Amino acid sequence: MAFVQCSGLRKTYTVGDEEVRALDNVSITVEKGDFIAICGPSGSGKSTLANVIGGLDQPDEGSVLVDGVDLAKAKDKELSEYRNSRIGFVFQSFNLQAHETALENVISPLVIGGVGKKKERRERGMKALERVGLSDRAGHKPTQLSGGQRQRVAIARALVNDPQMIIADEPTGNLDSSRGSDVIAELRRLNSEGITLIIITHDPNVAAQAKRVVEIKDGKITERTGAR
Ligand SMILES: Nc1ncnc2c1ncn2[C@@H]1O[C@H](COP(=O)(O)OP(=O)(O)OP(=O)(O)O)[C@@H](O)[C@H]1O
Ligand SMILES: [Mg+2]
Repeated sequence: MAFVQCSGLRKTYTVGDEEVRALDNVSITVEKGDFIAICGPSGSGKSTLANVIGGLDQPDEGSVLVDGVDLAKAKDKELSEYRNSRIGFVFQSFNLQAHETALENVISPLVIGGVGKKKERRERGMKALERVGLSDRAGHKPTQLSGGQRQRVAIARALVNDPQMIIADEPTGNLDSSRGSDVIAELRRLNSEGITLIIITHDPNVAAQAKRVVEIKDGKITERTGAR
């Protein structure tokens, strides 16, 4: 069953008199429970596509159906509801709040979304930290954690609202290869539990683990392979 169905996506940025076609007629389908890797050179449109699928950005043209809802036509309120309750986002730069503990960072989507009471948020946050093996670091600030642990906190934050899909944009970009492998193993485990997974990556070793690989260049999909 298709969970994400994008068709004819276009997004153009105009800077001065330069036009950049970040997405140039992109169509892509992601099945429920799928694990796809999106690869391609720097500036090819990967993050733009991830942001459109994640409801962080909207295309100029085309449709983005996720679970039957067209995000391209959604209002801001619907988009933020979608982001807060249906999907988890993991960023290359972790995007953790430095002054907050691991637990406070993890529960921030619940606080922003006004979900649950304090006690319930705490319990859900601890459960998410347990899922990434970090319940013993709940009180640590990001500077008191290793790079791999920070990224696992970011994954726990993406998990706290029980998302159906995780979109990870270069989740291992700032990690050495062994910490990067741990993070990918964690994401794979979540996928094997049924979460649909989209990973944006430059790393061929990461892409090789996906069920499908999509190559993007100059805003166009140039190749699709159904590895494994
Ligand atoms: N806000 C913006 N304003 C203008 N141009 C932008 C903006 N965001 C992205 N672009 C341009 O759109 C193109 C696609 O950007 P995008 O961030 O999707 O690339 P990417 O494939 O994720 O690259 P990287 O691997 O370096 O992260 C780039 O050429 C970029 O310069
Ligand atoms: Mg990018």
